[in-house]
Amino acid sequence: MFFFIILALLRLPFSGAIHHMQRRAPAWVNPRDAVRFLRVSNRCSDDISPAIQTQAGFGPAVHGFRLPAGESRLLNVSADWQGRVWGRTNCSFPGVKGTPFRSLGLRGKEEKRDGRACWTGDCGGLLDCKGSGQPPATLAEFTLESESRQTFYDISLVDGYNVAMGIIALLDYPNNTSASQSILPNQTNPVCIGSPHFLARNDDFHMDSDFANATSPTADPKSKQSKSQPHLLPLERSQSLKTVRRWCPWDLQLQPPEKPGYGIYPYPDDHIERPLFNPCYSACAKDNKPEHCCAGKYNSPKKCRPNFYSEKAKKICPDAYSYAYDDETSTFAIPSGSGFEVVFCPMGRSSDILDHLRK
Ligand SMILES: *[C@@H]1O[C@H](CO)[C@@H](O)[C@H](O)[C@H]1NC(C)=O
Ligand SMILES: *[C@@H]1O[C@H](CO)[C@@H](O)[C@H](O)[C@H]1NC(C)=O
Ligand SMILES: *[C@@H]1O[C@H](CO)[C@@H](O)[C@H](O)[C@H]1NC(C)=O
Ligand SMILES: *[C@@H]1O[C@H](CO)[C@@H](O)[C@H](O)[C@H]1NC(C)=O
Ligand SMILES: *[C@@H]1O[C@H](CO)[C@@H](O)[C@H](O)[C@H]1NC(C)=O
Ligand SMILES: *[C@@H]1O[C@H](CO)[C@@H](O)[C@H](O)[C@H]1NC(C)=O
Repeated sequence: MFFFIILALLRLPFSGAIHHMQRRAPAWVNPRDAVRFLRVSNRCSDDISPAIQTQAGFGPAVHGFRLPAGESRLLNVSADWQGRVWGRTNCSFPGVKGTPFRSLGLRGKEEKRDGRACWTGDCGGLLDCKGSGQPPATLAEFTLESESRQTFYDISLVDGYNVAMGIIALLDYPNNTSASQSILPNQTNPVCIGSPHFLARNDDFHMDSDFANATSPTADPKSKQSKSQPHLLPLERSQSLKTVRRWCPWDLQLQPPEKPGYGIYPYPDDHIERPLFNPCYSACAKDNKPEHCCAGKYNSPKKCRPNFYSEKAKKICPDAYSYAYDDETSTFAIPSGSGFEVVFCPMGRSSDILDHLRK
């Protein structure tokens, strides 16, 4: 009967779960006087509408905008900024050119727009977001400054997955701070690829080179100064196109296929086609159960264990947060001072940096 349950779309804001990002970063000496770069880049073949939520410090003046395929936008945040960035897909904003409404082909309740402008990541139908968005969405999360003068960041699948994402620490900027001096770029740039379209096959390997080797936003890409040595990124090697296409548990898909027979989903489901673009709710985002959201009596690392969604998510994206108490295997920490780039739809394979560093 488990597979029978087709849940209605739950309209929860991000993370009913107690997530580490909800802890406020203690501020230190006047970090607001300094700025850090936040660059947002769209390597998808479609438009993405990035959304930015500020939780502490000063964020960019704009909290959401349309970013055409292949384009990049450079923003500033305060050096003590805490916040998150995600991509909204399939958006149609009234009055914004080039954002026509298209049906996603969802059935029933899921297809109701209900004031939404975007099918995933939507924030109240607004182009310039105010606050959080609707799952499923892959999140990039940042706490730029802490008491220990470290920056913490991660890719989070705690609220589900919608598009492939990578984070690049812009170590060379600003101004050659402590962050740039001892860290290799192959330890700082996580990648999460949960969509087959962006997965490079192991035997035909291609990876966007800036993930193995970060550059500053101001650097002239043609100039061959400094660090010319490539730093190989530790990658997840076990997944294939087939497993990446099917990782999302059956009833957590944004677009589950039609019930193939008599209303009972077969198991295993190996032979059923899944849509190419098929975002995945997290168990928490879909059912809001305390044991999946690490809420109520499950609100501690000991009591909240990985669930059927987070185990799959972790296999596909070993460097990403998969449930609310996944800290040790998912948080990146570097000396503060660096800016960051959030890349939608990087090409290559998911990174496996943290596991590699622990060994
Ligand atoms: C970032 O801030 C600097 C000043 O701190 C300003 O000169 C620059 O124009 C800002 N860039 C953006 C993209 O807002
Ligand atoms: C929805 O957005 C995704 C990601 O950009 C894209 O692959 C897909 O084709 C879009 N679907 C429709 C119906 O526009
Ligand atoms: C970098 O240094 C220049 C001059 O040394 C200064 O004007 C600028 O504000 C600094 N930028 C940041 C982001 O700290
Ligand atoms: C940048 O950092 C390196 C390593 O600490 C140092 O040798 C160099 O002088 C610094 N450059 C500037 C412009 O501060
Ligand atoms: C990045 O690596 C490539 C080789 O893969 C090299 O040609 C390039 O100069 C490197 N860039 C930086 C900034 O290290
Ligand atoms: C990063 O690259 C260096 C070579 O530049 C390599 O020695 C090191 O093993 C790599 N680190 C990881 C974590 O793979």
